[in-house]
Amino acid sequence: MDYFADTIRNAIRTVPDWPKPGVAFRDITTVLQDRTAFRKLVDAFVHRYHDQKIDAIAAIDARGFIIGAPLAYELNAGLVLVRKKGKLPFDTLVEDYELEYGTASVELHKDAFKPGDKVVLVDDLIATGGTMLAASRLIRRIGAEIVEVSAMIDLPDLGGSRKLREEGLNVYTVCQFE
Ligand code: PRP
Ligand code: HPA
Repeated sequence: MDYFADTIRNAIRTVPDWPKPGVAFRDITTVLQDRTAFRKLVDAFVHRYHDQKIDAIAAIDARGFIIGAPLAYELNAGLVLVRKKGKLPFDTLVEDYELEYGTASVELHKDAFKPGDKVVLVDDLIATGGTMLAASRLIRRIGAEIVEVSAMIDLPDLGGSRKLREEGLNVYTVCQFE
């Protein structure tokens, strides 16, 4: 799968010392604004799931939406939004997760899936894995089946993808930055 990984990795911009000193921020905007890289990014996910029966793509607010929408379209699947707290208008389920300072919450409409639906959960990046894990818990609470959680970027040194695998989730990432 290096065909996809190398192109995407090379298109990601690393911004040193942002948002604070010592952090090397992996900036995906340079992938999105490059027509070749953006197409290849979506193709990487389509290639991975096109021969499976996927009922819905669940995408995480906000950068996950950018990947989730074209992927759902290409797979002829539904698109479900996992949103930051307070954005969804109907009855919701909520999961809290830890941030470096404090906590955050993600929310999902209770009727977003039918029990047994096969779902791929998508985001741009896995760091500590807290966001992806909280979103996974929401989906499982509704009784849908998570085929895989997937992201453009894994930061394996932060341990998120390992933690997700320990929770019994399949994890796919297009590229990694040690
Ligand atoms: C970033 C990123 C992931 C999450 C990864 O989102 O897009 O969703 O953090 O971090 P974690 O693995 O440690 O949970 P952010 O909360 O910055 O939101 P945004 O997409 O709205 O910018
Ligand atoms: N890039 C984008 N989002 C992030 C990062 C990063 O390096 N770390 C945590 N969230």
